[in-house]
Amino acid sequence: MCTTKRMQNKAPIFISVVNQKGGVGKTTTVLNLATSIAASGKKVLIIDLDAQGNASTGLGIIIEQRKLSSYDILVSDEDIKNVIRKTDIENLFIVPANQDLSSVDMDLVEVDKKAHMLKKSFSKNKNDFTNFDYVFMDCPPALNMLTVNSLVLANLIIIPLQTEFFALEGLSQLMVTIKEIRNTLNKELKILGVLLTMYDRRNNLSIQIEDDVRSTLNDLVFNTVIPRNVKLSEAPSFSLPGVLYDQKCLGSMAYQKLAAEFFLREKKFFNNGAV
Ligand SMILES: Nc1ncnc2c1ncn2[C@@H]1O[C@H](COP(=O)(O)OP(=O)(O)OP(=O)(O)O)[C@@H](O)[C@H]1O
Ligand SMILES: [Mg+2]
Repeated sequence: MCTTKRMQNKAPIFISVVNQKGGVGKTTTVLNLATSIAASGKKVLIIDLDAQGNASTGLGIIIEQRKLSSYDILVSDEDIKNVIRKTDIENLFIVPANQDLSSVDMDLVEVDKKAHMLKKSFSKNKNDFTNFDYVFMDCPPALNMLTVNSLVLANLIIIPLQTEFFALEGLSQLMVTIKEIRNTLNKELKILGVLLTMYDRRNNLSIQIEDDVRSTLNDLVFNTVIPRNVKLSEAPSFSLPGVLYDQKCLGSMAYQKLAAEFFLREKKFFNNGAV
């Protein structure tokens, strides 16, 4: 059902990459998954919703190109086409972030339906992005108004979990938020998958944590696991996603594998409404 509606409207699929825990691999996942998908010929837009602007920096978007940012679509009603920047990567575009975003919660205090600002902007500017296949939203490490706006607009959610002792800590709070948004503001919202990141296979703890996460969350967990890999952490300082900085490293290969699993899972959702 979902498929038919989407194809008629030629709307992209919106994916929110979210976890209120900091440093779990949200931005790394957005950059590498979006780039891998763009390399397959799909047109992809990243919306950087984090005032830190790590996704924008990781793609080499300089400060002069960030005068307009996702803040302006959320708060100032700017046309999306004026805010989308081309990246050096074919088929990959970005709505960058800047420091303005740090005051969004305050700036929206008196606004009606503040959780709908991003969705409203995209509905109003439909024609500016109908040729995109996927829109990835890189959320900040907080369950704030930016994250809520992202969840209201999203069709699908990816939750990166760092493979560490407290991996599941905080997840129940995120699940409650997702449930609340599904019950009220966005009934179609679905979790595409939970992604284990920074996995260290030499460490027994990683294996134990993976078992624990899989037995708790079952099919919700992506089969693909992202290893801890130094090339992935070096890549942003060269303004490149890992998958382009070193295509053959284990981290890049894992993200390419994730892209294949992404397509399979996403098809399953939109064709059967499954998982
Ligand atoms: N698989 C990995 N292997 C090694 N380093 C990684 C990996 N994934 C991410 N990192 C590094 O870990 C740090 C945190 O990753 P990232 O910025 O993607 O997390 P985040 O969840 O977006 O953080 P924040 O919550 O601050 O936005 C970064 O320095 C990044 O380069
Ligand atoms: Mg980040």
